[in-house]
Amino acid sequence: MSNGWFETVAEAQRRAKKRLPKSVYGALVAGSERGVTVGDNTAAFAELGFAPHVAGLSDKRDLSTTVMGQPVSLPVVISPTGVQAVHPEGEVAVARAAAARGTAMSLSSFASKAIEEVAAVNPQTFFQMYWVGSRDVLVQRMERARAAGAVGLIMTLDWSFSNGRDWGSPVIPEKLDLKAMARFAPEGVTRPKWLWQFAKTRKLPDLTTPNLTPPGGTAPTFFGAYGEWMGTPLPTWEDVAWLRAQWDGPFMLKGVMRVDDARRAVDAGVTAISVSNHGGNNLDGTPAPIRALPSIADAVGSDIEVLLDGGIRRGSDVVKAVALGAKAVLIGRAYLWGLAANGQAGVENVLDILRGGIDSAVLGLGKTSIHDLTRDDVVVPPGFERALGVPR
Ligand SMILES: Cc1cc2nc3c(=O)[nH]c(=O)nc-3n(C[C@H](O)[C@H](O)[C@H](O)COP(=O)(O)O)c2cc1C
Repeated sequence: MSNGWFETVAEAQRRAKKRLPKSVYGALVAGSERGVTVGDNTAAFAELGFAPHVAGLSDKRDLSTTVMGQPVSLPVVISPTGVQAVHPEGEVAVARAAAARGTAMSLSSFASKAIEEVAAVNPQTFFQMYWVGSRDVLVQRMERARAAGAVGLIMTLDWSFSNGRDWGSPVIPEKLDLKAMARFAPEGVTRPKWLWQFAKTRKLPDLTTPNLTPPGGTAPTFFGAYGEWMGTPLPTWEDVAWLRAQWDGPFMLKGVMRVDDARRAVDAGVTAISVSNHGGNNLDGTPAPIRALPSIADAVGSDIEVLLDGGIRRGSDVVKAVALGAKAVLIGRAYLWGLAANGQAGVENVLDILRGGIDSAVLGLGKTSIHDLTRDDVVVPPGFERALGVPR
């Protein structure tokens, strides 16, 4: 193992904190308002227990499954995040790591690397879009992703422009020109390893969004793109069905927390949903997705693929989610910590930690495959679940 190897995701986070400038680290910690939701996303997993066996366990365990038609070697795929300034190779390093570990990559339309570069290193790449811009512009972006080789589309809906957090928001410059560099110099000086990574590439961290470049134009800045988003009329369920109809492959709606919305997603023709609250970065007070998962899986799990994201930090969290009805999970901060700590190898390290943890839990539960997990394998305390959007 290289020196950069770490044992847990918590250790990767500690290293990320040491390595990244304060504002970059703060952008990944994120959360909103009081931080109730971001806290519950991880705390809820700790409330769940296991009911293990001790003998008659299986020598071999199968962790593989499929997500939106893509075979994956473990029930974990990369969630879309804009990872500006974390690492010079950004999403390309993440996509390579996912490919090396046999899983799929999701690329955010707000990412720092172009879909062409990312799909070239991981043929199992999904492209994620928000409802930003006119219908013509949305179709153009989608067509570009298709031409680049994207094998699925993710529409993220759970963003309602929450801002402000009690522990303070990081200051992010519009672009990293010399003026901004001078302002942020003290942060860089205290993080020489991070600075050196970028210095070696002879490029400043890029704060533009190349997947939102208009034909023949230049990539907008992160804030320019955000402005276009705020000016776009909010999508209706008809818009969701329309977008879905424009994409003739697997389509995921990310950010569903209620049974009634999950049913509407089925009606709109989606292939999959992710039960998610945007990693606790949006409407604070939304419960952890793992609390809402069982009721949603019961309602629509036989019609579409039900995934979950939010709070996954260890393999046992993945097993709990699968036992409670998820086909697989997506991870966000876990791989961002790995990327910050050790680049591509750090993301591979995180995927290895999760694989080891999943395997160990499946072994202890006496199963031969993740497909054999059931709710009886998990100890769910009274009052744990939140069935949202169910008529009383
Ligand atoms: C820094 C950061 C940026 C994110 N950017 C996006 C994005 O561009 N698109 C999106 O669909 N979700 C985005 N998300 C949400 C993640 O895809 C995912 O839902 C969330 O991180 C899952 O929670 P976890 O971090 O606890 O795993 C972002 C999350 C973080 C932490």
